[in-house]
Amino acid sequence: MADRTPLIAGNWKMHLDHLEAIQLVQSVAYHLDPEDYERSEIAVIPPFTALRSVQTLLEGDKLPMLLGAQDCHWEEQGAFTGAVSVGMLKRLAVRYVLCGHSERRALFGEDDEIVNKKLRAVMAGGLTPILCVGETLEQRDAGDAESVVASQLRAGLDGVDDPASVVIAYEPVWAIGTGRTATPDDADTMCGFVRDTISDLGGAESAARVRVQYGGSVKPGNAADLMAREHIDGALVGGASINADDFAIICRHHRS
Ligand code: 13P
Repeated sequence: MADRTPLIAGNWKMHLDHLEAIQLVQSVAYHLDPEDYERSEIAVIPPFTALRSVQTLLEGDKLPMLLGAQDCHWEEQGAFTGAVSVGMLKRLAVRYVLCGHSERRALFGEDDEIVNKKLRAVMAGGLTPILCVGETLEQRDAGDAESVVASQLRAGLDGVDDPASVVIAYEPVWAIGTGRTATPDDADTMCGFVRDTISDLGGAESAARVRVQYGGSVKPGNAADLMAREHIDGALVGGASINADDFAIICRHHRS
């Protein structure tokens, strides 16, 4: 197995104000040892309003947890009411930015072109995109899971020289927030398919290095099984990431 550091990231979605955010990060950190941070990168992805508070906490307490943002705009600045630029995120020590989360695609009308613009802006700003891909239940039932994921990858990574500089999150839409997790075998097969597609796009060497997370109802009870698989390099965790005990257990999966 290639030497890829797993990335375990908690996508809080639209949950927690800045005070609750501080509490959560403190409680998670209380459960983690240096060894946990050495084995995996551990990141939290709060709403914009909590980024500054969490950044201050991480820096003040010298916690090696990383910070991510849930979205960004592709322009550097301008008349884009409600939007946040990559430069603004960078000033808050944000490392990762989600691009193309299925909720952004389904609820906010983001298509592959917008996702690609955001992804390129994140890279241009020196941050790391987490490109989210995944099929709906209808697409899976129709046997289209692979073609959907391949086309999201191709479009999302358009113009990217080294796909390994992006993290890919395979998140089947039918598994998000439903409690219905992909089986470790299915998740590994699809993450392997993501890697094969990256090989087509950027070569075998890039494919061996790219990190592919699984997301969709990752919980303390299934995290270790999922992350033990060959092609799964960590998890993008939604619901379970806003519970300190659950998220800490997921981060400590290698101890189970
Ligand atoms: P759940 O873990 O709540 O299914 O959410 C997954 C997700 O969308 C993470 O980005």
